[in-house]
Formats: sequence, C-alpha cells, structure tokens
Amino acid sequence: MSMRITLIAGSNRSDSQSGRVAQYLAQRLQQLNVETDIIDLAAEPLPLWPEESASSPWPRFAESLRAAQAVVVITPEWHGMACPALKNLFLYAGRRELAHKPALLVGVSSGQGGAYPIAEMRSSSYKNCRLCYLPDHLIVRHVESVMGETVTGEDDQRIRARAEWSLQLLLDYANAMRDLHEKHRSPPADFMNGM
Ligand SMILES: Cc1cc2nc3c(=O)[nH]c(=O)nc-3n(C[C@H](O)[C@H](O)[C@H](O)COP(=O)(O)O)c2cc1C
Repeated sequence: MSMRITLIAGSNRSDSQSGRVAQYLAQRLQQLNVETDIIDLAAEPLPLWPEESASSPWPRFAESLRAAQAVVVITPEWHGMACPALKNLFLYAGRRELAHKPALLVGVSSGQGGAYPIAEMRSSSYKNCRLCYLPDHLIVRHVESVMGETVTGEDDQRIRARAEWSLQLLLDYANAMRDLHEKHRSPPADFMNGM
C-alpha cells in the first residue's frame, strides 16, 4: 500500500540545519519507497496566526498534511525552546490534518542541546490536534558535522543508523494506525478538544 509522509522543517532561518536534516530524512524515506513532501517554514514562511493573506502557504501545507499517513516534526533548539515558527504552525494545524497520525520528533542543535524542544513539543502541541508522537525520537547534535554528503566519523555513523531505525519504526506505526485518522478525526462535540 502506498505511503506518504510530510516532513516539517520547523526553523524560519534561511538555509537552516533543520531544513538540511529534513532533506536527508526525506531522501532516506524515498529509498524505502515512501512519497515525501517537505514543509520548510523558512522557504515558505507562515504568517503569525490568525493573519490571513492571499499568499499564505497554509492551504498547501494543510493539503500536504491531510494527504500524509505520518509526519516528521523537526525543530531546532533556540534558547532552550522549540522554534516559534513551528509552534505557530500548530495554531493552524488541527485534527482535520493530524488527528491520530503518528509523528517522529527530531531535535536539532549545533552543540549538545536538542532535548528541550522535544520535551516542549511533547507537552504542548498535540492536545487538540491529537498528533501522536512516537515514544522514540531523534536528537541531531553537532548537526553541522553529520548527515552530510560523506560520513564524517563514528558519531555521524551512529546518528544515521538511529535515523534509519526511527524511520522504519515510523513506517510500522503508520501502517498499524492507518485507519485511526478517518475513524476518530471528528470526535463528539463534547470532546472536540483534549483535556
Ligand atoms: C536564536 C538562537 C538561539 C539558540 N539557542 C540554542 C540553545 O539554546 N541550545 C542549543 O543547543 N543551540 C542553540 N542555538 C544554536 C542552534 O542549535 C543552531 O543554530 C542550529 O543550527 C539551529 O537550527 P536551524 O539552523 O535549523 O535554525 C541557537 C541558535 C539561535 C539562532
């Protein structure tokens, strides 16, 4: 059965490392016969919600997320936080796009960081949209020196192997959860939002 995955590069810095990681992971998924799309919040900036403009990329993003069976959510660590551009996307994206779809979280840091934004996304971002984060996540540390054109050493090798395993896990979840979105994206009015 065909599989589509949308990757969200959650940095609004042009030529971001998050965008580069998204490209790398998308290529790996394509090797596994998965159709991919990248939402890059630097290449296609989303206005701060609720501003509406004719040129907003939101309709394209919504379509991409609706068509996906799973999502990869990539965020850089900025001042110990998830990127505000990514949090802004979660004001737009709701259960119509994401309910009960599995998502792989990826933290990105140029140093030893990357864990704080994972914790932040796990505590706030999924309540109303019901996106289901996998218990496993990826943290890409010293990002500039890994996932490039050539393997640079042991750390690079290790994060590539873990990424491979995480993507396979995401595919297994996506297959197992395929019917859940259709069945549960419209909860009863009383329970429309999570508690
Ligand atoms: C405003 C700002 C704040 C940052 N704060 C942190 C931080 O708290 N922890 C960390 O590990 N890296 C921090 N960094 C470095 C980022 O990890 C690094 O720039 C990384 O490449 C950001 O990803 P991006 O290129 O996708 O934006 C910060 C970078 C910026 C621009």
